[in-house]
Amino acid sequence: MSLDHTDEMPVIELRHVDKHYGDLHVLRDINLKVSRGEVLVVIGPSGSGKSTMCRTINRLETIDSGEVLIEGKPLPREGRELAAMRAELGMVFQSFNLFAHKTILENVTLGPIDVLGMKREEAERRAMELLARVGVAEQADKVPAQLSGGQQQRVAIARSLAMNPKAMMFDEPTSALDPEMINEVLDVMVELARGGMTMVVITHEMNFARRVADRVVFMADGQIVEEGSPDEFFDHPKTQRARDFLDSIKGH
Ligand SMILES: Nc1ncnc2c1ncn2[C@@H]1O[C@H](COP(=O)(O)OP(=O)(O)O)[C@@H](O)[C@H]1O
Ligand SMILES: [Mg+2]
Repeated sequence: MSLDHTDEMPVIELRHVDKHYGDLHVLRDINLKVSRGEVLVVIGPSGSGKSTMCRTINRLETIDSGEVLIEGKPLPREGRELAAMRAELGMVFQSFNLFAHKTILENVTLGPIDVLGMKREEAERRAMELLARVGVAEQADKVPAQLSGGQQQRVAIARSLAMNPKAMMFDEPTSALDPEMINEVLDVMVELARGGMTMVVITHEMNFARRVADRVVFMADGQIVEEGSPDEFFDHPKTQRARDFLDSIKGH
């Protein structure tokens, strides 16, 4: 949602990234840059490699060849450096993955205290601010099962934000939610985007993509087939693959 992405070091860059799962060539020469403040929406058919690509960005998945750079630095392969860099990239998945036996507040303070070494009072103050920002401050003392799916996903977003990430990645954050809860999560993401957060969002929510994306990337068969502005992509898709995909999701 920023206006000018030129001449700046990309926050995330993939260079010639290839990956196989056995015989399956799941990522084929992926080249991608995400600029500071940019909202990149990744769409494509199921199985096209979207999640795998997203997971290579913080090395939840290894790659066969190519490079992943965060702010121009190659991602470390392992160890403490990798853990540190991973903490700089927030990740929100379809399933909320909150700690079931900890309170909402504890879920949000755990990372800052254990990983960032923040003092408890400071971590709790920050956590309450973030919980308020995503609209669930009054749930702080409950455990996840007492919250709706939409509320849990908003807590998951707050938990990621508590680590002060350089970028946030979302992998179909609303696809496990009941329809009436989708917008409350998308609204939080819209606000984040407006606030200048660098975001990579895998989603099937096309209205969100149109409204919020600076750029849309369309993946199929492990490749980036097309990329462009939301208007270019949705109104004038260049490839038959993209046209077929857009037709298939119309009316959903
Ligand atoms: N751990 C894995 N081992 C083997 N194959 C996998 C693994 N994870 C994903 N795949 C396969 O890789 C392809 C891409 O998966 P994925 O990245 O999840 O696609 P998408 O997110 O676009 O639906 C699919 O064919 C999937 O079955
Ligand atoms: Mg996926």
